[in-house]
Amino acid sequence: MDFSQVIKDALRLELIRFEIALRKSVENDNRWISAIINHVLSAEGKRIRPMLVFLTAKSCGGVTPATYYGAVTIELLHTASLIHDDILDESSIRRGQPSVNAVFGNHQAVLSGDYLLSTALRESVKTGNLEIVDIISHLGQNLTEGELSQFAIANEAIIDEDEYFNVIDKKTASLLAACAKVGALTSGADRDTVNNFERFGRILGITFQLKDDIFDYYSQDVGKPTGSDIKEGKITLPLIFALQNAPRSDADEMLEIIRSRTYSDANVATLLQFAKTHGGIDYTNQKIDALLAEADSILESLSLNEDYRPLLQLLFKYLKERSY
Ligand code: FPP
Ligand code: MG
Repeated sequence: MDFSQVIKDALRLELIRFEIALRKSVENDNRWISAIINHVLSAEGKRIRPMLVFLTAKSCGGVTPATYYGAVTIELLHTASLIHDDILDESSIRRGQPSVNAVFGNHQAVLSGDYLLSTALRESVKTGNLEIVDIISHLGQNLTEGELSQFAIANEAIIDEDEYFNVIDKKTASLLAACAKVGALTSGADRDTVNNFERFGRILGITFQLKDDIFDYYSQDVGKPTGSDIKEGKITLPLIFALQNAPRSDADEMLEIIRSRTYSDANVATLLQFAKTHGGIDYTNQKIDALLAEADSILESLSLNEDYRPLLQLLFKYLKERSY
């Protein structure tokens, strides 16, 4: 069953209006910027973030004009961060098509990311809610901090579960936390509900990233080759757990590979297998289950529009069972 399609169907009207508002937000007379924006918008992405904004708003009381501005703001900021991320990672593919840096070069890519970020801030002002402007500005800080920390951790070969969770909280979970918070705020929800939804979104984000990190250990078509995180020096939870829990001599051998950065295909395969053998995937799946149980109990504690509660719960199933 395609869970995300079920959610998309329930939000059909909002998502159509969202696409129109998104395109309107980036309309401009500059043909060079337009060319890049047209390229970026031609690949839609999974639209998980706007889905979460609208679903939260509908569960709490209803979508308002500010909800659209909020959803557009977050999508623009997210897109800007991905354009910059592809420059940093030297990635040539994004959302199944050549990345902005691959088509237009780094110079244009940096500037188009800046343009989208600035547009995001202008859209946030249209919500008429200074708290949302602050959420968005803080989100930009968190994404940047997460990316910087990840880079430093990879360079210094730091293997530490707390540092890992700090990075995924900043670089992935902060985005979904902002979606749920903005959805709740723009629907007029009370403070307690807004805070609960922020935590709910954060949990979804952490789960999303944990699942994404597990994909790197298996050969399936998930848009990037197996072991590509490790090759970039990103040591994720399955391997961190195995390094902490395997017999010391085995772990030391693996640490030797990581510290010397000799990421040949054979060494990467050895690291992947080591993480699996020493329970890294099971541990990560247990974390996912515990987080989703917490998200479930948050939903149970809230009084919501009952038409939308099952769709919020469907998000868990989507995150747990998604295959890419
Ligand atoms: C994807 O990570 C990238 C991010 C989650 C955030 C990137 C953030 C920045 C570049 C800094 C902030 C920029 C702005 C404009 C505020 P990934 O490389 O792990 O995932 P991928 O496989 O999708 O590339
Ligand atoms: Mg990247």
